[in-house]
Amino acid sequence: MNRREFVKTSVTGLSTAGVLRAAEAPARPVVISSANGLKATNKAMKMIRRGEDTLDAVVAGVNLVEEDPNDQSVGYGGLPNEHGVVQLDASVMHGPTHGAGSVAALEGIKTPSRVAKLVMERTDHVLIVGEGAREFALAMGFQNEDLLTDEAREIWLKWKSQLNPNDDWINPKDRVSGSGLGGENVNLERILKYHGTINCNAVNAKGDISGVTTTSGLSFKIPGRVGDSPIIGAGLYVDNDVGACGSTGRGEANLKTCASFMVVEYMRQGLSPEEAGLRVLKRISENTVEPYLRDETGRPNFNVLFYVINKKGEFAGVSMYSGRQYAVHDGEVNQLCDAAYLYEAKDALE
Ligand code: GLY
Repeated sequence: MNRREFVKTSVTGLSTAGVLRAAEAPARPVVISSANGLKATNKAMKMIRRGEDTLDAVVAGVNLVEEDPNDQSVGYGGLPNEHGVVQLDASVMHGPTHGAGSVAALEGIKTPSRVAKLVMERTDHVLIVGEGAREFALAMGFQNEDLLTDEAREIWLKWKSQLNPNDDWINPKDRVSGSGLGGENVNLERILKYHGTINCNAVNAKGDISGVTTTSGLSFKIPGRVGDSPIIGAGLYVDNDVGACGSTGRGEANLKTCASFMVVEYMRQGLSPEEAGLRVLKRISENTVEPYLRDETGRPNFNVLFYVINKKGEFAGVSMYSGRQYAVHDGEVNQLCDAAYLYEAKDALE
């Protein structure tokens, strides 16, 4: 049976009898994350083993990546919007209390996941955006900082220089010595838009589950654009009776399908993490009808990945296209694993 037949079989073979019971707890804790989260899974697992709360653990894990200037998809060092301003989105969910908090288009604060957690803990709201989110963070004692690193600024300038051959922006590499601007020897390295993000979900030995998703969003986005990461049900969903799912990749696709919520609901109906994730990827693929979002074979020309755990500690990383990995600490080993996939990739897709 090839992969596509397997997906078809498993997706149609939905069990109605396999509803997870709240009493089903894993034999050992599990922490799963996107591939940029190997240090996050390690940190979160250490905290969970010490008996700390699953949400405290995953947030502390992703803070390592948010504060890392070398990760250009998240927090400090994230790629900016069209105007060169870093705007961050994040959400958290705490399974035992069914708590949720999120921030969107937040500027000047390195760790939006911690602000999202405080929205959950210190307000009666779920989502605070823009200047209101920044003021809330400052009131909570966060420092306002410049999040645009020199490296991210250079990438943004290079992107600007490639927008329109007739504008006044120049990529210094395109200056050909002695021949003025541009010229036949120009060798442009195209800067593509990029949906980098980190998601991290954990289940402890009692079966308590939490998750966090945090991102600088789509690089060079229209200012104020909000992706799926801070939207509960799209970029993250946790149900303490069932499991958790978070996502990276094209946020607009997840927003239009309430994707993470749907993955968790399919697990509630009895699908495994892998089956549930692949089923929602299939739905996204079927719903992608816009010609500009489809390749020459009619498939989506973008990627979406889900990081899924259930209450029993079963887990899967699933991707629309092959060749992608995810990070998981299964209670014994912290490692990168190959994600299951819906389609074989012809080219590298984000
Ligand atoms: N999934 C991240 C974003 O689209 O903003």
